[in-house]
Amino acid sequence: MSAPALSVLVLFAHPALEKSRVNLELGEAVADMPGVTFCDLYELYPAFDIRVEEQQRLLTEHDLIVLQHPFYWYSSPAILKEYQDLVLQHGWAYGTGGTALQGKRMMQVITTGGSESAYTEDGLNRYTIRELLRPFERTARLCGMDYLPPFVAFGSLRMNADDITRHGREYRAILEALRDDRLDPSLAEDQPRINCGPVVRSLLGEAADV
Ligand SMILES: Cc1cc2nc3c(=O)[nH]c(=O)nc-3n(C[C@H](O)[C@H](O)[C@H](O)COP(=O)(O)O)c2cc1C
Repeated sequence: MSAPALSVLVLFAHPALEKSRVNLELGEAVADMPGVTFCDLYELYPAFDIRVEEQQRLLTEHDLIVLQHPFYWYSSPAILKEYQDLVLQHGWAYGTGGTALQGKRMMQVITTGGSESAYTEDGLNRYTIRELLRPFERTARLCGMDYLPPFVAFGSLRMNADDITRHGREYRAILEALRDDRLDPSLAEDQPRINCGPVVRSLLGEAADV
C-alpha cells in the first residue's frame, strides 16, 4: 500500500466524554486510520497544562489539522481556546517569522444540538454555521492555512444509533479522501458543510443517505 499523501492530526476536545454519544463514535470511526494521529486534548491535559512545544511539534509534523468537538455556546469547548492562545504563538504561527503552519489545511468536525434549519438567517440561531465559525476560519487563515468547509453533524441530540453510525462512516470516508488527496474540498465551498450530498455521494455512491 502506498503512503498516504497527507498526514492528519485530529485534535479532539470533549470535556465529558463519558456523556458523549456522537463525538465518541465519530472519534472511534477515525482514530485507527493509517496516517492519522489522534490527540484527545482533555485526556492529555486534564488541568489545561498544555505542553506547547509538544503540540507545536505535532502541528509541524502534519499536513491536515482537524479540530473535532461539540459546538458549545456557538464555539468550542474551553481547551481549544486555551490551545489556540498558548500554541499559536507570535513569531511561530503568525507575525514576523511566524511561518510554521503555512500551506497546511485545517478542517473542523463539529456536532450541534441545533438542527440545520436553526442555523439559517430566519432560524432560531440567525446565523449560518459558516458565519458562526468565522473566528476559527480567520485564525487558520491568519496562520497561512487553507480552511476547508467544516464537517457538521447537526441535530446531534435527536440522532438515533443508525444516524450516528452513518455520520461516522461519512467522516471516515471524507478524511480518507482528504488524506489521499482524492477529494476536492471546493466541491463544498458554497455548501454549509463538507459532508453535503455531492461530496458524500461521490465518495460513498448514489445510495448514500444524505
Ligand atoms: C455547555 C454546552 C453548550 C452548548 N452549546 C450549544 C450551542 O451553542 N449550539 C448548539 O447547537 N448546541 C449546543 N450544545 C449542544 C451540544 O452541541 C451537543 O450536546 C453535542 O453536540 C452532543 O455531542 P456529544 O454526544 O458528543 O456530547 C451545547 C451543549 C453544552 C453541554
